Amino acid sequence: MDANGEGTDVVRLRVLVASPATGKTTWCGRQNTLLGVVLSTDRTRAEIGAGEHDQGVSARVFDLVASRAAEHLAAGRDVTIDATGARRRDRARWLVLAAAHGAVPVAIRLRCPLWTALRRNRGRERRVPTLVLVRMWCAVRTLTPDRLHREGFAEVRDLRT
Ligand SMILES: Nc1ncnc2c1ncn2[C@@H]1O[C@H](COP(=O)(O)OP(=O)(O)O)[C@@H](O)[C@H]1O
Ligand SMILES: [Mg+2]
Repeated sequence: MDANGEGTDVVRLRVLVASPATGKTTWCGRQNTLLGVVLSTDRTRAEIGAGEHDQGVSARVFDLVASRAAEHLAAGRDVTIDATGARRRDRARWLVLAAAHGAVPVAIRLRCPLWTALRRNRGRERRVPTLVLVRMWCAVRTLTPDRLHREGFAEVRDLRT
């Protein structure tokens, strides 16, 4: 077992499930090497689009992150997807990818109070629209560990930031 209480004998695809400004990227950065390769959709937006908030390149961003994740999983490396994971079709894509590589799909649900997320969002240079944040926060609240298990995640961690 490693520091997260996870077995170390298998490859894991970890998928964050958290609303914007919950602290996903900060949390990932604090885990050192425990998460394997962290692939951020926002960082990829900046790479191929106009910046971390460029929603216009989303389809290409998800394709690129998925193909990079596939390469790492095939090489036996754990991968963590730093994205909101709030949409079912996105989570389904990661579940299919994990299955294709025999990786254990892990959901990491990160939450904080709505007012905390709104405050953290206000402190940013580029803010996520409040309505978008509130909608995603509500979506994540309904995504209980039980639901995520039933969706197909073999392990679910439910954490506060
Ligand atoms: N645990 C925490 N305590 C206090 N502030 C935090 C914490 N996690 C993140 N933040 C702050 O909240 C803001 C959003 O964090 P970030 O990691 O970028 O969120 P996300 O990746 O979920 O959008 C940043 O300003 C960050 O410094
Ligand atoms: Mg982030």
